Amino acid sequence: MSSFKTIEWKDDRVLMIDQRKLPSEEVYFECLTYEEVAWAIKNMVIRGAPAIGVASAMGIALGAIKSKRKDKVEFLAELKEISTIISKTRPTAVNLFWAVRRMMDLVEENKNNDIDSIKAGLVDEAKKIYEEDIEICRRIGRVGNQLINDGAVVLTHCNAGALATAGYGTALGVVRAAVEDGKNIRVIATETRPLLQGARLTAWELDKDGIPVTLITDNMAGYVMSKGMVDAVIVGADRIASNGDVANKIGTYSLSVLAKFHKIPFYVAAPISTIDYNCSSGGLIPIEERDIKEVTHILGNKITPDVKVLNPAFDITPNENISSIITEKGIARAPFIESLRALVH
Ligand code: MRU
Repeated sequence: MSSFKTIEWKDDRVLMIDQRKLPSEEVYFECLTYEEVAWAIKNMVIRGAPAIGVASAMGIALGAIKSKRKDKVEFLAELKEISTIISKTRPTAVNLFWAVRRMMDLVEENKNNDIDSIKAGLVDEAKKIYEEDIEICRRIGRVGNQLINDGAVVLTHCNAGALATAGYGTALGVVRAAVEDGKNIRVIATETRPLLQGARLTAWELDKDGIPVTLITDNMAGYVMSKGMVDAVIVGADRIASNGDVANKIGTYSLSVLAKFHKIPFYVAAPISTIDYNCSSGGLIPIEERDIKEVTHILGNKITPDVKVLNPAFDITPNENISSIITEKGIARAPFIESLRALVH
């Protein structure tokens, strides 16, 4: 288990390690209202698909317990409004919508109960989603460990670690499970421009846990692969379409093309809640466009002339570039439509 808490429910508040400040400062961001949780998700205090799912559930629970409504109809309408606001924070990671739906389904099932018991049920459910996420990541780790040889060098992109989940991680969960199994594993982390989740977060959490990590810039990936320095690529996912196309951090697609060219296995590790069975292919997944300042500025300093800038936060890796999708319920391989469906039936 990692030696820090990504997110925590504490009495009547939600605490999150502030991922904007890592690695220079290890400070916690305190949310007393659901609006603060929504702000934290939108502004990347917390990020990573499973972690924002947990944060959304806790945000709804926080909004519920802080509600002053005494009238049931008004209380239920307020919960609906809270869920809508939280749903608008980030568009790509489906875990967010999955968690909001799970919380609101619970409200629907219990709508005839009194307000206090609905509030208590929502707090319990948010805590359950948190606990389950850690257990799911551990299972993903155990499943994925079968694919990793002793001595392997694993290249990963962005941060799909403990910081991107309730704890342990998906892609880094596989690494952690292999290390716990006694394997000698080394990680190459890509820095992941523009927000540097690899350089700031993956490097930090692996180093903190004593797992050997080497940092490269994104444009060095082809070089290290061509030199035979990478045995497997493992990344996380923000949304997986039912045909196995994967939305993940911008740059994932390029890595998949490089891995295919160099005949390096390309694995995606994600919980079942990241699979959007209602989405038939990657082209239908909404891609978040973020503020161009993330590209034009570094540490508040403008580094570019005034030209057009693109800043899509994610890209789509086509299923044909993916060797396996590792989930808590087993490994899916091509043809993915069948193998992904078989995981849940
Ligand atoms: O923009 P971010 O930092 O939220 O993007 C995160 C990623 O792309 C992760 O790889 C993905 O959410 C999987 S996390 C287990």
